[in-house]
Amino acid sequence: MPSAIRTAVVPAAGQGTRMLPATKAVPKELLPILEQPALQFIVDEAVGAGVDHVVIVTSRTKPAIEAYFERNEWVESILDKQGRGGLADRLRRYGSDVRVSFVYQDEPLGLGHAVACAQPAVGDEPFFVLLPDELMGDSSLLSSLGSVVEATGVPAIALKRMERHELFRYGVVDPVGDARSVAGADVVSFASVVEKPSGEAPSDLVIIGRYALLPDVFDDLAAIGPASTGEIQLSDALSVQASRRPLNGVMSNVSRRDIGNPVGWLQAVVEAGLEHAEYGPAFKAWLGQR
Ligand code: G1P
Repeated sequence: MPSAIRTAVVPAAGQGTRMLPATKAVPKELLPILEQPALQFIVDEAVGAGVDHVVIVTSRTKPAIEAYFERNEWVESILDKQGRGGLADRLRRYGSDVRVSFVYQDEPLGLGHAVACAQPAVGDEPFFVLLPDELMGDSSLLSSLGSVVEATGVPAIALKRMERHELFRYGVVDPVGDARSVAGADVVSFASVVEKPSGEAPSDLVIIGRYALLPDVFDDLAAIGPASTGEIQLSDALSVQASRRPLNGVMSNVSRRDIGNPVGWLQAVVEAGLEHAEYGPAFKAWLGQR
């Protein structure tokens, strides 16, 4: 069920160094999963959860992101003439089924700073944040986050249980109270977030890249200073918010792919290949032989 949240922020200003040299000329968000750019999966996920305005936080060094959302009538007309109207319609739909706006983050000052850059485009509304390094398969997790915010009036963040040795890569939450069901979702409250713990982590529940936030987070982002890394961390603003009243963590059970590194990207591509209605059977047979 789509929630009442209509705006999604997608931080996409990073330089994608883990995917160099591919990302020297092509933004990592446009690397293909089969024939479709990763960013299109993110936009489709947001649209599927009821979003009608996507705010992409990008960098002026990545003009290809804006070019991707422009109509290309020349290519569409060639496809129509070739009798490939289905593909032409798909291109027409992309970028026109949802309003896409762009804001710029020209300095790498962290995820919190990226979200703060989106404030003029978001306005005084609740909004989702979708980190485009992670593909969630469908819109169900985002829809759950929206429903939990609607039911409780408190921000909701997607969580996943991780192995202890992986915790240092993530924001890890400090849970309070018992798990409960809210709007059909499995919810755990938390009182703070430790970003990329170097010592003992408060739990094994990590933030995965989907958030449903209220506009007062912009005040907290403006008030907190940079972390020791020099970056403004979204996790720090969430800790400030959680110190007023616990925030809601929504336990996810979607199949998540981290495509920000070569192996995760390859897994996502192989999975998409195996599941593809047209190419899937032949690809599976080939992979089996290998
Ligand atoms: C960011 C967040 C972190 C979160 C992670 C999810 O880290 O800061 O709290 O757990 O995304 O992928 P990043 O991966 O950008 O370093």
